[in-house]
Amino acid sequence: MKKNIGIIGTGSLGGMLIRGLIGKGAVAPNQVYIFNRSLPKALKFKEEFPEIHVAENNSEIIEKAHWIFICVKPQDLPFLLDEIGTKFPGEKLIVSTLLSPPLSELDNIIQGKIVRIYPSVTQSTGHGVTLIAFNRQVTDSERKQLIALLDHIGRTFSVAEEHFRLCGDITSCGPAFMAYMIGSLARVAHEHGIEKELADAMALETMFGTSLLLRNQKLTFDELICRVATPGGCTAEGIKVLEQNLPRIIREIFKVTAAREKEVSEIVLKSLKIK
Ligand SMILES: NC(=O)c1ccc[n+]([C@@H]2O[C@H](COP(=O)([O-])OP(=O)(O)OC[C@H]3O[C@@H](n4cnc5c(N)ncnc54)[C@H](OP(=O)(O)O)[C@@H]3O)[C@@H](O)[C@H]2O)c1
Repeated sequence: MKKNIGIIGTGSLGGMLIRGLIGKGAVAPNQVYIFNRSLPKALKFKEEFPEIHVAENNSEIIEKAHWIFICVKPQDLPFLLDEIGTKFPGEKLIVSTLLSPPLSELDNIIQGKIVRIYPSVTQSTGHGVTLIAFNRQVTDSERKQLIALLDHIGRTFSVAEEHFRLCGDITSCGPAFMAYMIGSLARVAHEHGIEKELADAMALETMFGTSLLLRNQKLTFDELICRVATPGGCTAEGIKVLEQNLPRIIREIFKVTAAREKEVSEIVLKSLKIK
């Protein structure tokens, strides 16, 4: 990969992209330019990857990098655009990782090639999902190259942007939701007297084994459930309780995440219009 990569904001997500892309050999450290508002957070990557470039400011990132990943919180976007401007000519690709604004709004604000991605923290392991959508200016070849880059740290799914929220509940919020649900099995076992560390270790190992079983044997979720929940057995009884209660809770989760995204989006768009 010949393109230089820029990362603006080296917090959780920016850091994951730096470690993931370099760690998996998708880019060499000397192809990566990074900047963070509080400099020590960027400098610590220089200790990990001595050949990485810590830029003096965000304008240097725009100048030196071809593909620029914006990894700041949505509320910081207006200040960032004040600094770097909104016109990105030629082959520059602006890759927004922000929960909002959507591409249609970014297209009104930014002139150039824009990509929206929605990654997941699990990708620091090299596994997990990036959702991706492009504006019209991005060529087919650029789309393929960017997807190939991101495929080093998981699987990249190109989806209609209006489905980002729904898919993001599985792929991006999902790790937290799944951790809560699996952790709840351990928590309740602990309430009944099993040592916490032991219950947590059992839950973790079971989650790992379940993923491998589904993946390696290409089972559907329902097939796996049938395999474990033999009629008349304990699991089947437990599944009945889940069927009665969990779908309502999951629908509620999708409702509140959608509402929150709308709220955040409105706040960000308002602040961009005020500026
Ligand atoms: N974390 C996730 O799992 C995840 C998943 C999908 C999408 N996202 C998206 O990724 C973005 C970043 O999230 P995060 O969790 O990584 O947040 P974070 O840990 O707070 O990182 C954001 C970083 O951006 C830096 N920053 C803010 N303004 C800047 C500027 N003008 N120039 C350079 N650096 C600047 C901050 O610096 P300071 O140290 O000075 O605060 C901070 O280190 C968000 O928009 C979020 O919606 C995150």
